[in-house]
Amino acid sequence: MNKEDNKDIIIGQNITFSYKDRIILDNQSFSFKKGEHIGIIGESGSGKSTFLKLLAGLLTPSSGTLEVDSESDPAKIMKKISMVMQDAMIMPLTIRENIALGKEIKKERMDEIIKATRLDLWTDSLPEGIDTYLGERADELSGGQAQRIAIARAIAKDADIILLDEPTSSLDKDTIKDVMEALETLTDEKSVIHVTHQTDLLKGYHRILKIGGGRIYE
Ligand SMILES: Nc1ncnc2c1ncn2[C@@H]1O[C@H](COP(=O)(O)OP(=O)(O)OP(=O)(O)O)[C@@H](O)[C@H]1O
Ligand SMILES: [Mg+2]
Repeated sequence: MNKEDNKDIIIGQNITFSYKDRIILDNQSFSFKKGEHIGIIGESGSGKSTFLKLLAGLLTPSSGTLEVDSESDPAKIMKKISMVMQDAMIMPLTIRENIALGKEIKKERMDEIIKATRLDLWTDSLPEGIDTYLGERADELSGGQAQRIAIARAIAKDADIILLDEPTSSLDKDTIKDVMEALETLTDEKSVIHVTHQTDLLKGYHRILKIGGGRIYE
């Protein structure tokens, strides 16, 4: 590991956050290193999703400071982070547009992403391929297809930090395997924070933290 690799990419200091009188984090400090894969566990309602939203700059702590890759402005933090949540948000756009989200992606790169997420098995069977419009069809997508589009979108964004919020929890066993493979492509060489109930998905992770009782701890 060189010095650069050992640098803290996320630093939270004395962070407190609550929804009205429900305290989620009570004066908590933490730091994650560049390239680290961190698992987050904790009971339902303990605040795991809230924690990811704080890291992503979608929620603001009531006190304390958060620095993500040397930025503290939420708008700048959002650019450095890709998030894949439990249920993919599919927009009334084509498959290509759903993945690129306005970013210019070269054809070769898009082909790579489609292959890595195994979307090609499906898109090759569509007359208009990845230019198929997902307007009325959005509901017809399987959970696995929708989730792989979300992962493809995150790969296309090419952010250094990947936040995963139970990305496989709504899928059946066979689909999980395909989605996990796509996730491996997404998370390789990135800093990863992965919330899950399924601890077998955290094999090989550097650290596993627990959230509960207003604390985040090893
Ligand atoms: N927008 C909100 N307003 C008020 N309370 C909220 C809000 N979002 C979440 N909560 C509450 O905060 C607590 C933590 O919610 P959060 O979604 O972060 O939990 P979680 O650990 O992700 O749970 P799960 O494992 O079920 O996904 C819960 O008690 C929840 O009801
Ligand atoms: Mg949650």
